Order: sequence, then structure tokens, then C-alpha cells
Amino acid sequence: MLKPEHLILFSFTAPKNFVKHGKTKSTSQKIHIDRCHKMSKQTTQRKITLEDIKNHQKDDEPLVCLTSYTAPMTRILDPHCDMLLVGDSLGMVVYGMKNTLCVTLDMMVNHGKAVMRAASHAFVVVDMSYGTYENDPAIALESAKRLMGETGCNALKLEVTKALAPTIELLAANDIPVQAHIGLCPQSIEKEGGYKIKGKTNHEISNLIDDALACEKAGAFSVLIEGTKEAASREIATSVNVPTIGIGASPACDGQILVVDDMLGMITGHTPKFVKKYAQLSDVISETVSKYATDVRARKFPDENYVY
Ligand code: KIV
Repeated sequence: MLKPEHLILFSFTAPKNFVKHGKTKSTSQKIHIDRCHKMSKQTTQRKITLEDIKNHQKDDEPLVCLTSYTAPMTRILDPHCDMLLVGDSLGMVVYGMKNTLCVTLDMMVNHGKAVMRAASHAFVVVDMSYGTYENDPAIALESAKRLMGETGCNALKLEVTKALAPTIELLAANDIPVQAHIGLCPQSIEKEGGYKIKGKTNHEISNLIDDALACEKAGAFSVLIEGTKEAASREIATSVNVPTIGIGASPACDGQILVVDDMLGMITGHTPKFVKKYAQLSDVISETVSKYATDVRARKFPDENYVY
């Protein structure tokens, strides 16, 4: 475990271009990044790049990923995370929509910009919204260029199967890094008739492995696996060379992601099995606001300390 003073430590000892798991990696580029709470004036965490993600090895520390949708939250999360996702889950989390299907490209652009203004360390991925990429590679490229160009984000995530490999290929050929989201794909909720856990049968498992391999071959730099049986996720994670990020997937993935409001306990109502609540902030906020309400009603706030 690194100490706060080791914010950036470059190790120049190992041989160059050391090949492992089929990926070329110079371990001299290995960068240890501290997860300290406060950054001193002399030290800053450097930005995580696409190369860092691509160079991630199966036995490296797992990548720490969370969703983020706003600038203030991004400022808090950024020093702790390797990757931040401006997920289209913002439709439900921020806007109270019932699913992600009503999320627009304009919404993704605006939230992507907000997160990019506040992120200085984490690699930022933005979701392509429903209806902006699935049916036509040329439209996908147009949407992707707008999302990348207007937000300045580092990569885009698309919910895919192997059928969308040509789209990934086109985006990759246009220097747009693509993270392929496979398994449970929330944008398919209507087609699937609900959120269905994947990888339950041998047929499904082999289809998912085919999807992951096709996406990797098409140029995806990473595969995100959602809502897929542990054994199936493990098999996918070991079948591809690119880093896999899991949500309701497997500890064998190269990184883990959660929806930030879920893990902070900000969402009331149903909690999926894969969500570990690290706090119950909805209770903290409710108790805090109740104290404020009591003070205002009793004319205790503002007292002389809070007026000019
Ligand atoms: O939109 C989102 O937040 C996501 C995560 C669930 C991975 O895609």
C-alpha cells in the first residue's frame, strides 16, 4: 500500500516491452498512484491515459471505477478513481426517469462537459445514448464525434453484441476509443422485457464470449460486463486480452464499477444484489435537513452569526 507522499512514482527498473497476456507492456511505464484524500500543493496525480488502461495486466491491482454525472461529485471521486463513467444511468439517477431510453445525446454532452471540467486524474468514459449509434455506423460516427468533440472525454461506451463490431471498427478507425458494454444491456430493456441476468446457459456463455472477442478484434480497448453470472463473467474476462470492467459480474474482472449513488446509499427503493452500500447518505441528508427545518421553523436560523 502506497503512502500519501508517493503520489506519483515512476519505476524505471524493469526491461522494456515486456509481453504478458498477449499485451505489450513496458513495466518501466508502470505508475503507482496513491489514493490519498488530500493532494498537497507540491504533488498532483497525473492523468490516467488510454495507454495506461490498455497496458493494465491481469495481475495488476484492479481498476477502480465509478459513475459520475456532475462537477462537484467528480471533484470528490476523481483522486480515488482510475476511471469515471458518465453513464446514461443519469436518466434514472439524476432525472428520475424510469429507464435509460429517454436519455438524449444533448444530456450526455452536458453531463460529459460537467465531469470533464472537474476531472484531472481519472480516465473519463461517456455513454452513447439510446438511438444514437445502433442502426447505422455512419450515424454512430456522427454522434460519437459530437460527444467526443464537445465534451473532450477520453472514450465512449456502447452497449453492443458482435453485430455492432463494424461500428466499433469504424469508430476505432476514426481514433475514437470504444468500451464495449456486454451482458445485461439496460438499453435493451424493452426488447428483453426487463433486466435479465445473462450467462445462465452454455449457449448464452458462448455467445457472450463471441461478443467480447468480436469487440476486441474490432478495436474496443476494454469490455464492460454487466449483470452476468460469475462463472460466465470469469470466462469472458479470461478470454479477452483487453481489460474487463465488471458490474454484477466477477472479481476476476480487471476492474469494478458501481453507480455512485447506489454505493453511497443515496437511492431509496430496490437495490440490486451486486450493490454494496458503503454508506447510507440518504439517511444522513434526511437527518441533516430535518435539523435545518426545525431551526428555520423555530426562528433559530439564521441567528446573529449568519447575517450581515
Ligand atoms: O449507465 C451506467 O451507469 C452504466 C453502468 C451501470 C456500467 O452503464
